Amino acid sequence: MDPASSIFRLAALVWVVIFTCDNVAVRTVTFVTASALSPIQLEKKALINTGWWNSSFWTTDHCKWEGITCNSAGSIFELYLSGYYAGFNWRLSQLNFSCFPNLVKLTIQFFALTGSIPPEISALSKLQLLDLSSNGLTGTIPPEIGNLKNLIELNVGSNSLIGPIPSALGSLTNLSNLDLSSNKLSGKIPPEIAGMKNLTWLDLSNNNIKGSIPGEITELSRLDYLDLSSNKLSGQVPFSNEQLSSVYIVRLSPNKGLCGGNFLDLPSCDTTKPATLFVEIFLPLAIVLSVIVFACLLLAKRKYKKPKLEERATNNIDVFSIWNYDGRIVYEDLIEATEDFHIK
Ligand SMILES: *[C@@H]1O[C@H](CO)[C@@H](O)[C@H](O)[C@H]1NC(C)=O
Ligand SMILES: *[C@@H]1O[C@H](CO)[C@@H](O)[C@H](O)[C@H]1NC(C)=O
Ligand SMILES: *[C@@H]1O[C@H](CO)[C@@H](O)[C@H](O)[C@H]1NC(C)=O
Ligand SMILES: *[C@@H]1O[C@H](CO)[C@@H](O)[C@H](O)[C@H]1NC(C)=O
Repeated sequence: MDPASSIFRLAALVWVVIFTCDNVAVRTVTFVTASALSPIQLEKKALINTGWWNSSFWTTDHCKWEGITCNSAGSIFELYLSGYYAGFNWRLSQLNFSCFPNLVKLTIQFFALTGSIPPEISALSKLQLLDLSSNGLTGTIPPEIGNLKNLIELNVGSNSLIGPIPSALGSLTNLSNLDLSSNKLSGKIPPEIAGMKNLTWLDLSNNNIKGSIPGEITELSRLDYLDLSSNKLSGQVPFSNEQLSSVYIVRLSPNKGLCGGNFLDLPSCDTTKPATLFVEIFLPLAIVLSVIVFACLLLAKRKYKKPKLEERATNNIDVFSIWNYDGRIVYEDLIEATEDFHIK
């Protein structure tokens, strides 16, 4: 090793050491100046800022407040607010999501929440459970929810959410339960939904979802509950009972116009198939024609036997106008006419 190279290496090492120390110092200074509060104190402050807890609690340990569970380090792990805590016109945006980096479960249900779901909710990167059901939430489902990659359960059912189901939800590969039921969602079911490989429970019932069911839904091999009822879906169901044999419960009715798939409560789609065509069109036509031919023969016979009644008979049954009647009327006319003959 030549001396020049050694000196160069030494210089480089010194520079790296100085740079690293400098960087650590800068970070320490930034931490101290930018936040006098520790991350745990920030969590408490964010809870107080919501106004959802009585101020008489504020001096106490927030980990012991109702609905809050902390991890062993004292950081909030779960927030569970239900029913009787409810205030008036509380909004989800009152919660500063960026202050809860360790939140794994968030449930706020029957809480009279209004307003929309803020896209900032995607800051809850560790979230596995998000349940905002049975509130008065409005607006659309933010596609940013698709960034919550650890979600296992997502329930925003029984709200007043509008707009389409974001295709970004398809990237939630760990999601097991998805409940968007009883909202005002519209648009089509995005085919990207097939990306949720772990999905076992899918409830989209009671919305205004239209279009056909995407064939990709059959790729959800773990599904055991599928409810698409009370929507405006139409077209052919892209699976049969056999194909979706792992699904224990399937609800598809009522809908606007779903058909096929061997489902007990759905009509079959094949109205143009030869067999149906024969039963629904050719068979009645054949019967009507036979009746007409029979009537003509009968009349011809009567006319020949009783020429006196010729005028009356043609008045009652006009052979050319028979084409305007259905088979039943023709037959009744015929009976009427022949009975007349018996009386006279
Ligand atoms: C808050 O707590 C105080 C004292 O316990 C009580 O008097 C008050 O009614 C509470 N307020 C609400 C909104 O619950
Ligand atoms: C949320 O908290 C962060 C961190 O304390 C802060 O920088 C931000 O301004 C807060 N946002 C709102 C809307 O209060
Ligand atoms: C999904 O779940 C597995 C197992 O619980 C976990 O290891 C993984 O980090 C989660 N997230 C994603 C994006 O797969
Ligand atoms: C999702 O599916 C993968 C592979 O099938 C599995 O290993 C993983 O544990 C599942 N994740 C969850 C959260 O169930």
